[in-house]
Amino acid sequence: MSNNCYRSLLRLPVVKYVGFSRCCSWIMSTGVNLLHTINDASLESPFKYDEIVMAEHRKGRKRLFRLTVGGQFASPLGIIPYAQIVGTNERSTSFASHQVLFYRPTLEDYILHMKRGPTVTYPKDAAAMVTMMDIGCGSKVLESGSGSGGLTLFLSRAVGNEGRIDSYEVRSGHLEIARKNVQAWKGSWNVNHLQTWPDNIYFFHQDVIKALTMPTDVFDAVALDLQDLSDVLPFVLKVLRIGRPVVAYLPNITQVITTLQHIKQQSLPFSLDRVVEVYHKLWHIAPSKTLNFSSGATHSESNAKKNDYDYYLARPSHAQHPHTAFIIKMIRIE
Ligand SMILES: C[S@@+](CC[C@H](N)C(=O)[O-])C[C@H]1O[C@@H](n2cnc3c(N)ncnc32)[C@H](O)[C@@H]1O
Repeated sequence: MSNNCYRSLLRLPVVKYVGFSRCCSWIMSTGVNLLHTINDASLESPFKYDEIVMAEHRKGRKRLFRLTVGGQFASPLGIIPYAQIVGTNERSTSFASHQVLFYRPTLEDYILHMKRGPTVTYPKDAAAMVTMMDIGCGSKVLESGSGSGGLTLFLSRAVGNEGRIDSYEVRSGHLEIARKNVQAWKGSWNVNHLQTWPDNIYFFHQDVIKALTMPTDVFDAVALDLQDLSDVLPFVLKVLRIGRPVVAYLPNITQVITTLQHIKQQSLPFSLDRVVEVYHKLWHIAPSKTLNFSSGATHSESNAKKNDYDYYLARPSHAQHPHTAFIIKMIRIE
């Protein structure tokens, strides 16, 4: 059974409406990250045209689509006109004997399934980067490169209406993809939320190190997802505030070492804070009629009826996430 099926079976009370500014003050006053409740703001309102919807088939296969007027959801299992989805709440519907679950994607769902150009910063890593960058409402962040716009959306959500993301991308094709992905997410969000997604992303089609007009000492943090940091780090020194972090995403540990060697050789005033790899261990949780692990009497996602089981069996999943990248955090010290 997928997480989403659990979500519908074990539905928790949701915060009806949490706008960005309220959310920001809540986070600041309590130190608790309430961001997930932002997504829940629309859960109980029916689907509308122009929303992006996730379809989840058996065995966890997922697909994003937009509810366009006159469109239809087609799969090998059959066809459902979008008109039959619009106006309904999140629900499970069936093609013949198969179940397909329609629901609003979270930002994580969206980034993992949207159309990509270059590889995105994986959401588990983006979340860690946001924390390591120590950004929140009103922060000003420099990002490069924009790539597919995945990390950009995470940064945008973190800094809210009063913040600002300046995102630099050298390749026009990639920038186009990033823009489209960001626009599509914002468009869908704005259809089903009272408070619109913050207008805080500024894309620049430019090599970040040639952005000479950038004012100095302005950014609260810098996020880099680039192959080679050596030319970029001296530039970052001019625009990042002293005492603030640059957080970089590097797939290979050799890139991390090369970066540190470069900093040492060039005597760049960065202090290494830490290098981390974010590892999520996935667990398989299955409804069962028995606690006997060897009986095999677990229920698949499609046939687990609401009260047709008494227990859960749990074990580490056979499918684990592969390595994604290392995250390196450095502080500008002078
Ligand atoms: C791996 S992608 C970034 C993916 C992005 N973090 C996301 O989540 O979608 C790296 C991008 O950096 C861009 N890039 C590389 N060097 C650059 C530079 N000096 N200035 C601006 N963009 C650059 C590349 O064209 C590429 O699109």
